[in-house]
Amino acid sequence: MPKTLFVCSQCGNDSPKWHGRCPGCGEWNTMVEERLPEPVQGGGGGSSLGRRSAKAAKPVQLAQVEAPALARFETGIGELDRVLGGGIVPGSLVLIGGAPGIGKSTITGGALGNLAAAGRNVLYVSGEESPAQVRLRAERLGEHALRVPIVAETDVETVIATLEAERPDVCVVDSVQTLYAGGMSGAPGSVGQVREVAGRLMRVAKERQIAVILVGHVTKEGALAGPRVLEHLVDCVLQFEGERERTYRTLRALKNRFGSTNEVGVFEMRERGLVEVEDASSRFVEEATRGPGSVVLCAMEGSRPLLVEVQALVAPSELVPPRRVANGVDRNRLALVLAVLSRHGGFGLGTSDVFVSVAGGLRVDEPGADLAIALALASAARGEPLGDGAKPLAAFGEIGLTGELRYVAHADRRLAEAAKFGLQPVITPDGSARTLRRVLKLALDGDGSLADAA
Ligand SMILES: Nc1ncnc2c1ncn2[C@@H]1O[C@H](COP(=O)(O)OP(=O)(O)OP(=O)(O)O)[C@@H](O)[C@H]1O
Ligand SMILES: [Mg+2]
Repeated sequence: MPKTLFVCSQCGNDSPKWHGRCPGCGEWNTMVEERLPEPVQGGGGGSSLGRRSAKAAKPVQLAQVEAPALARFETGIGELDRVLGGGIVPGSLVLIGGAPGIGKSTITGGALGNLAAAGRNVLYVSGEESPAQVRLRAERLGEHALRVPIVAETDVETVIATLEAERPDVCVVDSVQTLYAGGMSGAPGSVGQVREVAGRLMRVAKERQIAVILVGHVTKEGALAGPRVLEHLVDCVLQFEGERERTYRTLRALKNRFGSTNEVGVFEMRERGLVEVEDASSRFVEEATRGPGSVVLCAMEGSRPLLVEVQALVAPSELVPPRRVANGVDRNRLALVLAVLSRHGGFGLGTSDVFVSVAGGLRVDEPGADLAIALALASAARGEPLGDGAKPLAAFGEIGLTGELRYVAHADRRLAEAAKFGLQPVITPDGSARTLRRVLKLALDGDGSLADAA
């Protein structure tokens, strides 16, 4: 029986017994089972040198390393390919995480279907659903998806043997938390199991050039369950986000060894599966209400400009402290904008409930959102719409703590995207108004002089 040890994945503290809470750093649920290496028999005494007679490896100059240019597998889902950096790299390990019901099985099933239709060898390993359940989904997704061969299996050794026998180009494991590795204690889904399962799959993936897509669940806090360890192991981590009750979902790369992590794909859940939203900006601009509290933000989602509507509602509060609700924007960012509005913009909202949300259930996480949030809040507080009535007002820019407007990256691309949809003027930090107070004055009091601020 091999000896095992429990090691904290946060601080590295080890203990022969498992603890729910690491005695070293006090973190919960971080102890991971590790196998101790077998003691070396007949070692050469106390010296650390020459204890084992391993043969030295011969270093090779990188220029001499053979690296055949491998064509990537295109999944036929443009947004997914873009986030992956141009398709799936053969032999790579991709982790795709997301909340329950967000559409992980749908997107991976659809991608495998397209690959199968393009003549690739694929395999779907379902540890969660029975083949009949997967078939029902595939029927919804269309005939391509029905071509995908499936095995329902939770023993990682069987999965690996199947991979060895079938040698698919791309394999989806749905989900990594349902697989278990024999010889390890711990329930499937525990940190030690997940890491062991992923480690074994990685070995086959690299040896046999099988691209493996691991589906992973996320915890309530939004982190991939157990998988801090997994993030280091895999080549690519994709995160599926969005609220289940909203239709829009975004897919972003948190890590990518073969591409940029700036790309974001936008999808919509429909009856026939996840549909790519290529013209996201035009949808959001069309849907913008133009009422009080509505401003279009020229955001950057990675290398792609995206216009989204920021909405705000300000209402008298009966609560102390009043409500501060942020959907799709960071709470701290909202707090900062509220503080600057009160100190430098003449809008004290201390006795009001404040709600800010990005329409469509999208999430914008960049400093460039500050100005649009501030304008939406001021407009909502006054009850006055911004813009010229026909088109919504567009803005972007960061707000500094002293109430000044600060530059943000890619101003030209943001402006070009706004111009594409006829949004003019756009309030930016490059305009004549350099402070929040001045912008608010022009936008709310300066009848029609918004062009001066832009
Ligand atoms: N007939 C339908 N029409 C539209 N949307 C549907 C339909 N059936 C299912 N859905 C959507 O598909 C989602 C489930 O997708 P999927 O099974 O791919 O999610 P998942 O992320 O794999 O979930 P889990 O974590 O349970 O494995 C549901 O939340 C629902 O929004
Ligand atoms: Mg699923």
